[in-house]
Amino acid sequence: MHPITEDHRPVALTGDRPTGPLHLGHYVGTLKNRLAFQRTHRLYILIADNQGLTDHASDPDRIRRNIFEVAFDYFAVGIDPAETTICLQSALPALSELTLLYLNYVTVARLERNPTIKDEIQSRGFGRDIPAGFLCYPVAQAADITGVKATVVPVGEDQAPLIEQTNEIVRRLCRQAGREVLPEAKALVPRVGRLPGVDGLAKMSKSRGNAIQLSASRDEIKQAVRRMYTDPDHLSVSDAGRVEGNVVFQYLDAFDDDTETVDDLKRRYRQGGLGDAIVKARLESVLESLIGPIRERRAEIARRPADVRDIVASGTARARTITEATLEEVREALGLYRLA
Ligand code: TRP
Repeated sequence: MHPITEDHRPVALTGDRPTGPLHLGHYVGTLKNRLAFQRTHRLYILIADNQGLTDHASDPDRIRRNIFEVAFDYFAVGIDPAETTICLQSALPALSELTLLYLNYVTVARLERNPTIKDEIQSRGFGRDIPAGFLCYPVAQAADITGVKATVVPVGEDQAPLIEQTNEIVRRLCRQAGREVLPEAKALVPRVGRLPGVDGLAKMSKSRGNAIQLSASRDEIKQAVRRMYTDPDHLSVSDAGRVEGNVVFQYLDAFDDDTETVDDLKRRYRQGGLGDAIVKARLESVLESLIGPIRERRAEIARRPADVRDIVASGTARARTITEATLEEVREALGLYRLA
């Protein structure tokens, strides 16, 4: 553990809605970056249960059940609680208070223009009945990020507009306060930002049923790879096949470190004479060698739920001190009254 006074590493924060176990899309989009960051940065990982409620208001039970599923996933992929602070959003009331203040420094029109929000409104079928909490969750996310004064946010590319939104709020607030109370943050998006679903449609997501979970069994991996979208015109082995838009090759690009072999497979596939079955068999073994150890570690950790709870509780206690200090600073900078 690095004592806070001597810890000059930049602060990074990221988070997840606990709506279900994490999947390969999360791994490529952000978990991998988090592993790289936990030594070089003071990393906070927020289990965003309040945010989860913004699109699952009618299923609070699901949010409650998944808080620790997500925590198990963190430890299973190698997040180290001695380096990283894992905390629970709903147990950090200062974040809600910051949200309440920030809501006054953003317009409804701006929130409605946010491209991520627009996409999500569509995919969730809200139509015109958008929950106000949902429309405003980017403001709460600004509170998450600024609450610990993070300057780096490792996220998938779909989250970039939310960091933009955060920085607009930060600038507006600093202008009002007449000084730089809060730092701006930078989104850190990985090279392969968005992993397509196994159906080849849009991104991997649990609600679309096109995801491979980090806890997937050998058999689930096999089933998922078997139904993976390839090239619909590649009817017999001797036909020339298309690599572009072929999900199996997109996954090999994302997960197979042996790029030489992958390039060779691509060449032979394009030429004709290489069947889907062979490429899929390779992907299956690549995925098993990634997921196998994660699955084992997860099973071990899931046997010690009380330890995991303690880790989340102590991370949250640490984050509480910091977020409360930030709230005080912001209120002070705005010159708000304090009934002491
Ligand atoms: N919106 C993120 C997601 O859906 C989760 C999240 C909540 C988050 N608070 C955050 C991400 C703060 C980065 C920073 O995955």
